Amino acid sequence: MKAVWYNENGGPEVLHHGDLPDPEVGPKTVLIQVKVISLEGGDLLNRVHTPPARVPHVPGYQAAGMVVAVGAEVTRFRKGDRVVGFNWSGSHAALFAVPETYAYPVPEGMDLDVAAVVPIAFGTAYDALFTYGGLSSGETVLIQGAAGGVGLAAVQLASQAGATVIGTASSPQRLARITPLGLTHGIDYRQEDISAHCKEITGGKGVDLVLDLAGGKGKDALVEALRGHGRYAVIGAAEGTLPTFGFFEMIRKAMQVTGISFGRDMHTPRVHELLADLLARAHAGSLVMPIEREFALADVVEAHRFVAEEHPFGRVVMRP
Ligand SMILES: NC(=O)c1ccc[n+]([C@@H]2O[C@H](COP(=O)([O-])OP(=O)(O)OC[C@H]3O[C@@H](n4cnc5c(N)ncnc54)[C@H](OP(=O)(O)O)[C@@H]3O)[C@@H](O)[C@H]2O)c1
Repeated sequence: MKAVWYNENGGPEVLHHGDLPDPEVGPKTVLIQVKVISLEGGDLLNRVHTPPARVPHVPGYQAAGMVVAVGAEVTRFRKGDRVVGFNWSGSHAALFAVPETYAYPVPEGMDLDVAAVVPIAFGTAYDALFTYGGLSSGETVLIQGAAGGVGLAAVQLASQAGATVIGTASSPQRLARITPLGLTHGIDYRQEDISAHCKEITGGKGVDLVLDLAGGKGKDALVEALRGHGRYAVIGAAEGTLPTFGFFEMIRKAMQVTGISFGRDMHTPRVHELLADLLARAHAGSLVMPIEREFALADVVEAHRFVAEEHPFGRVVMRP
């Protein structure tokens, strides 16, 4: 099959495109003929930071397509079904093997391009906001990194649930593009004081919940923006470095810090039901994920570079 691989961590230049053996189909595995690959924020972080367990390593979390083979013990899918699949690696290829518990049916008539970008972005955002973040109508959430895939999903889900949504991005132009999706207040994190703005918006109280998609040096300002007894969801490190929480910092705010790892929950019946609902809402058009650009899989170096350097709005997809 045509696939992308790397043998060591590094920049986009470590990515190779060529021929590799087809993946094995285990007893509980479905094999997807890939039509659309969603380039996820984590795909880039893994390329840079996570040493591959085996080489050649085929990267990538998520892709949509058609089931072309199923293992002997698979019960939920058969050849010809349209699915979007997740795995810890392997989506950057013409064939993507995923356990059947990590495959989600694409609703009848739904465009595969739309389905391919739903599960991780909207599922992570949903869990960070509601399942683990406890957000309710009338509360205020601050989303750091609101113009990325998970951030745009969180803006829409929080706003549709009746929350006040504060989001950050790197320019006023990007904030203006988020506003129609449900942003109540936008903050340019490069130019403006996040905690001062949040205090002003909340009448001095601070926000109820923070979704941190960026990590890095911005974390202290997010803690400062949080109210006492507020909740802080640790999700990602798009800034590139990993901050730490201080013992007294947490006591002083009486804050609850929750780590989110959506991949750990994606095989569960709860998440299967959640993703069926989120896919249906995306199919109906009430949730949207802008696709900024698409690339051929053979142009993977350019695609990864574009995501790393050009700040796409929403997602970039590739096609084998
Ligand atoms: N824990 C989990 O289960 C889970 C699940 C999915 C994703 N993630 C992680 O969550 C993060 C976001 O994922 P994604 O797919 O949404 O990534 P993405 O689409 O690449 O978006 C990342 C966003 O982060 C923003 N950003 C970058 N540096 C920033 C900084 N210094 N301060 C504030 N914002 C900054 C960027 O906004 P601007 O361009 O406006 O700067 C960009 O829109 C990634 O680190 C990913 O690995 C974690």
